[in-house]
Amino acid sequence: MALNIKRPNGTEDVLPQNVHKWHTVEKVARDVADGFGFKEIRVPTFENTELFSRSVGENTDVVQKEMYSVIAKETVFTLRPEGTAGTIRAMLQNSLMNGTMPQKVYYILSCFRHERPQAGRLREFHQFGLEMAGSQSPRADAEVISLAKSILDNLGLKNIELYINSIGCPGCRAEYHSALKEYFRGRDGLCGTCLTRLEKNPMRILDCKSPVCAEIAADAPLITEYLCPECAEHFAALKSYLGTLEIEFKVNPKIVRGLDYYTKTVFEFVTTEIGAQGTVCGGGRYDGLIEQLGGQHIPALGFAMGLERLLIVMDKQGCDYLEPRKCELYIAAMGENAAVKAMSLAKTLREHGYWVEYDVVGRTLKAQMKYADKIGTAFAVVLGDDELEKGTVKVKNMANGEETPLPLDEKFADRFGAICVDKMFGGFGVNLGGFCGCEGECSCG
Ligand code: HAM
Repeated sequence: MALNIKRPNGTEDVLPQNVHKWHTVEKVARDVADGFGFKEIRVPTFENTELFSRSVGENTDVVQKEMYSVIAKETVFTLRPEGTAGTIRAMLQNSLMNGTMPQKVYYILSCFRHERPQAGRLREFHQFGLEMAGSQSPRADAEVISLAKSILDNLGLKNIELYINSIGCPGCRAEYHSALKEYFRGRDGLCGTCLTRLEKNPMRILDCKSPVCAEIAADAPLITEYLCPECAEHFAALKSYLGTLEIEFKVNPKIVRGLDYYTKTVFEFVTTEIGAQGTVCGGGRYDGLIEQLGGQHIPALGFAMGLERLLIVMDKQGCDYLEPRKCELYIAAMGENAAVKAMSLAKTLREHGYWVEYDVVGRTLKAQMKYADKIGTAFAVVLGDDELEKGTVKVKNMANGEETPLPLDEKFADRFGAICVDKMFGGFGVNLGGFCGCEGECSCG
């Protein structure tokens, strides 16, 4: 009977043959974040719904249309649509904000948004993100942007443009909102959503995907002309620091971002190579959010990258992934006695850290060797009555067919280790100076 329950629309399975790609992105991102002094934080998958309406914003698409919420015992919970709100909640609840500033955390997590699925846009997706709390300085903005850029560079990605903007503080934005309202009120043809945005958050009209709205918005006033002196100075300093760090960028005054908490700096890393969903990273400063969630006035900023989008671009650009680890020794056994010996030999080798496999299905010797070949084992041994009697096996290097006899004694793991290391160095008989403790009988030299 065929399985008639499929995975929900907009979700993906990551299969064993692809998981090394995820490990690559996660490792590179973690290593870069470590190097900038960020520590990992893990937060719940769901939170009280109010957390998101109060942070992401009551009038955003995310809160209005895209949240997966559930009522459980009269409390409304929501699967997190992004990582910032939960992370800041956790930092506040666990008093991290009372520690030494800046507080720097990163996370790798799944997010849930009920959007129309398409390539690069999922209903369950994954983010690598980070947040830095406790710095007002534009040097922090440059630091966070440079961290994101290092991750993209270290993944080997090319042709990713950085766009930056400043959307000002609530002070300068009030004046800008009035200017936008005046501009858009004088024009016909805005879509229904934008007509609502006009009253509640006119800046979001600049982000509308409808070609008609985009055309109307083309000549709208720009936020950069309305920045107060402090915001303008902050933005100018950021641009100068990016210059110091030799990070290329373009100012795009139309970047407004879809979440309400941003102030001053906003930025996006975008590629044109994967269609409409080309924003691989988005972030910015949110100086009011911590206070809004009940903390002190602590300026903060961060970004998040969509891991699925990064992987789409990496595949497209033929970027390198970490080599998936492979089986180091396959023990093919003939007969019950040999099978039992294979089990104990595997146990010992595994205790030494090797990846070892043997037959657990009951295959013939020929089928066992076929399996060993299929899993791409580096070495194989055949263990039969003869080998058990003589107490020696031939360890076969599957790449070149070379066979090394090894005694089946208590030093087996050390001697096998020397052969493995030998292979890692290209099989050139590297002299390991007795490293394996073999007293000179094996290939360690
Ligand atoms: P965001 O722009 O909503 O920002 O999402 C960040 C990234 O997540 C996007 O640039 C994109 O790569 C990925 N992403 C978003 N939605 C989807 C989706 N439906 N399918 C696949 N990937 C998606 C935030 O989430 C903020 N919390 C970022 C931040 C952290 N700002 C400050 N700190």
